[in-house]
Amino acid sequence: MFLTTEMIYCFIILNLTCIFKALEGVFRKFGKMPRTQGSSSCSSISSARNPPKTLFVRTPLSNNRRQTKVFPAQKYIAVSAQTVCAGPKREPMISRVTMVDYRGNVLLDTLINPTQAITNYRTELTGLLPVHFNNAPSFHEVQSRVAALLKDKIVIGYALWQFLGGLGLTHPAIDTRDAALFMPFRKTLQSRSSNIIPLATLMQYLMNRSIGVHGDYPDEQARATLDLFRSCEQVWENIIKSGAWPCCLPPSECGHCFT
Ligand SMILES: *[C@@H]1O[C@H](CO)[C@@H](O)[C@H](O)[C@H]1NC(C)=O
Repeated sequence: MFLTTEMIYCFIILNLTCIFKALEGVFRKFGKMPRTQGSSSCSSISSARNPPKTLFVRTPLSNNRRQTKVFPAQKYIAVSAQTVCAGPKREPMISRVTMVDYRGNVLLDTLINPTQAITNYRTELTGLLPVHFNNAPSFHEVQSRVAALLKDKIVIGYALWQFLGGLGLTHPAIDTRDAALFMPFRKTLQSRSSNIIPLATLMQYLMNRSIGVHGDYPDEQARATLDLFRSCEQVWENIIKSGAWPCCLPPSECGHCFT
């Protein structure tokens, strides 16, 4: 299993140079690149309460041409999760999961009965209170429902390793579309390769849409990643179809989430 992941990554690295060349062409076509404002270097996902003003809202979708899809709509599913802090070390624990179809219709939206004592509900961001978990299904119940929905799907998400890792699930790397890792987005925002751009920043820059204004809501986040993906679907899928891989690698310690 691990070998397979490594093999995929080797393949990816081998392909990086030619992808960058291809993408440069793609982005010259789709508009000018914005300048990032004094970007602070951070290797983790920083919070973006105040995302920068929009500099760039043209996406490949603005062509509005009728395009042939590489995969049918029902092949895709978009996911997001909400976390609370649990245990003595206040580690993130998934408290709510949302999964939507290609059109943004909710397929699953459920809380999870905590497996450890919640030490911080992050109520101001999650809206969650202890009472909300009274009738929540068990972790294993949600885990198997999520696994059933993910089966044979291409999963769209943001930092998918957090979703998969938090639920103790794995997914084939080739069937993931992770907006946090998509290189054209990073290139457009001139992000250093180690940076992970906050989802709210991507949405503000690329789609001129403010998200997270009222907190961290997984339904809003799942639809946001879905829209980001759909805005570049043709480009994204065609790169993969050509045998290259348009995304950076997830953090190395998260390789076990992908098969
Ligand atoms: C971004 O959205 C706002 C409204 O939310 C609108 O006033 C503004 O013109 C939009 N900017 C661009 C560049 O489309």
